[in-house]
Amino acid sequence: MAKKTVADIPDKDLAGKKVFVRCDFNVPLDDRQQITSDARIKAALPTINYLLKKGAILILASHLGRPKGVAKKELSLAPVQKRLSELLGQEVALAPDCLGEEVKKRVDALSPGDVLLLENLRFHKEEEKNDPAFAKELASLADIYVSDAFGTVHRAHASTEGIAHLLPAYAGFLIEKELNFLGEALADPKRPFVAIIGGAKISGKLEVLKSLLSKVDILIVGGGMAYTFFKARGIEVGNSLVEENLIGEAKEILKAAIDKEVPFLLPLDHVVADKFAPDAKTEIVPRTTIPKGWQGMDIGPDTVKKFTNAIKGAKTIVWNGPMGVFEMKKFAAGTLAIAKAVAAETEKGATSIIGGGDSVSAIKQAGLTDKMSHISTGGGASLEFLEGKVLPGIAVLQDK
Ligand code: 3PG
Repeated sequence: MAKKTVADIPDKDLAGKKVFVRCDFNVPLDDRQQITSDARIKAALPTINYLLKKGAILILASHLGRPKGVAKKELSLAPVQKRLSELLGQEVALAPDCLGEEVKKRVDALSPGDVLLLENLRFHKEEEKNDPAFAKELASLADIYVSDAFGTVHRAHASTEGIAHLLPAYAGFLIEKELNFLGEALADPKRPFVAIIGGAKISGKLEVLKSLLSKVDILIVGGGMAYTFFKARGIEVGNSLVEENLIGEAKEILKAAIDKEVPFLLPLDHVVADKFAPDAKTEIVPRTTIPKGWQGMDIGPDTVKKFTNAIKGAKTIVWNGPMGVFEMKKFAAGTLAIAKAVAAETEKGATSIIGGGDSVSAIKQAGLTDKMSHISTGGGASLEFLEGKVLPGIAVLQDK
């Protein structure tokens, strides 16, 4: 990797020194504030353990949710403190805030090997504004800055960007791993390279579709976003989700795929429903015959065959976004079948990279998490990386 990592920090600069580690502990919580997936906490452990072994004093910081500058009890990092303490096998303390006199006192009282978790950074609106004075306050707590918050590096916030101008700034092992997988897939993919893009909407994924067209051998599109493409081709889609304002963009992408001679695969058939509900009436219909008043909710069995065949033999697979409304059991089959197909190719030696919270949950639901080469901890961040954008939280770290 082109950026310096924690492994490049001389031991003498770590022993007894305060290290501010920006993590992405933005974990999903249920309505009782219980963590429903601790994947992001586990992903931060290699860096945390490494720094502890080197005798550093750790100050961990993260956001959780989008409290928009207001301290909300339900978005406290307390559940993370508890889980992290269990995973590390040592007590992690939780500061009452992320800055201020009390926090300074708590930091000054720490000894090598201690871990203090700061409270949710986004309880202060200055965090998202990348406010220089706020960044300076955060920086004043430590000697070294480490970013391991891959999921947040596409945000130029005080704790992801501003602070890194004020302290020697290094990448953690999670960032290194994410960039190695994603970077390699883009820079030098083993071919055939197949991308599978799904999810409800094409807004937010237009740029990645455009960028992938110049890189992949096959582009597969499923999920709700497929219906805007059908509409762009003049195909009626009943009540299916369509982003009318993006039909023009969808036409351009379809044309670009033809110009670049990249197979752009859309569903052949659909599982349709008479309403958006788990108890809806369902039918399987061919591409052009979605009945009036009905909506597409999943890809159909012919599409599963077609997409599975396209995935067969792939050597690099990037997948972001489910093929249907997989959260409802009746409409999960398409996404789960694709997860199996990707897992099967991975077993045969393909590199599979999964990004986006929904595809990650679908893979978990299919029990295939361990079968993929890399499950990215970043949704938006991995998409922006695939788009070829400069990620501010990476750009600011020291070059090797
Ligand atoms: C994520 O969950 O994608 C990251 O933690 C970033 O969160 P955000 O979209 O609220 O900035």
